[in-house]
Amino acid sequence: MAALVLLGALAAGMPLGRAAMQDDVDTALSIAEFLRGARTVISAGQARINDPAVGDKGLSGDVVVDQAIQNVIKATGADPRQVDAGSEKGRLLAAMALAVKEVMDANQPLINQQGTGFKGFVPAVFARLVTEQFRRDQSGRAEIKVTAPPELVRNRRASPDAFETDIIRRKFQSPDWVKDSIYSEATTVAGRPATRVLVPEYYGAGCLACHGSPKGEIDITGYPKEGASQGDLGGVISITLFD
Ligand code: HEC
Repeated sequence: MAALVLLGALAAGMPLGRAAMQDDVDTALSIAEFLRGARTVISAGQARINDPAVGDKGLSGDVVVDQAIQNVIKATGADPRQVDAGSEKGRLLAAMALAVKEVMDANQPLINQQGTGFKGFVPAVFARLVTEQFRRDQSGRAEIKVTAPPELVRNRRASPDAFETDIIRRKFQSPDWVKDSIYSEATTVAGRPATRVLVPEYYGAGCLACHGSPKGEIDITGYPKEGASQGDLGGVISITLFD
């Protein structure tokens, strides 16, 4: 998976100093990259997870965290374990690794069940569980969520808020938005100063078995397909760091 591209879009007149803002954006992108690295482990293991003949899938919390780190190194060249553990970035990366481990450990009985093929444990479900776990662990200091344009949202827990919807409409869905560019802004969330970073994600060929055509046909997970094409905006990783 390609590394996240950092291309400007810093808001004008932001209250934070430029350096502090850049730090926040860097931290936000690093936790988004960790989530992607972990999600890639689940995609790569999907056939095994779905195999009714295999019991133990070998995807314990520790294994998935280790493989996620390898995927992050592959995508970015940087090892998340080298980040100063005392820094905000180090703390949030550790919290993300912990959330991944907790979700995998909690789901061992489901994914190791013999005799059941498709178990509904797909990358998007895994990612949502991780972001929900991360939110619980962080008690409101930082949030990460995978959302989507309102017309594509499957699970309403992933619905975009007003800010996310606005940026999706005015930026990511605008014909002149440079593909893969992120959006960041120093703003407030429920009255609290925060840095928000939005990372667009596009459908690849592998996504279309569920999100592609024919539109309305029920996919393996029980949802109607969206009729999307490869390269369409499929979702947004949205990170909020409270100051
Ligand atoms: C096996 C079917 C399947 C495949 C393949 C798949 N998805 Fe999904 N996707 C789902 C399901 C099911 C959900 C709802 C997950 C949940 O319950 O939170 C979902 C949710 C999402 C969401 C979160 C917003 C929402 O609608 O709830 C995004 C973004 C998304 N998918 C993008 C992608 C992208 C990008 C790919 C390819 C890299 C992909 N999906 C591949 C089934 C799939």
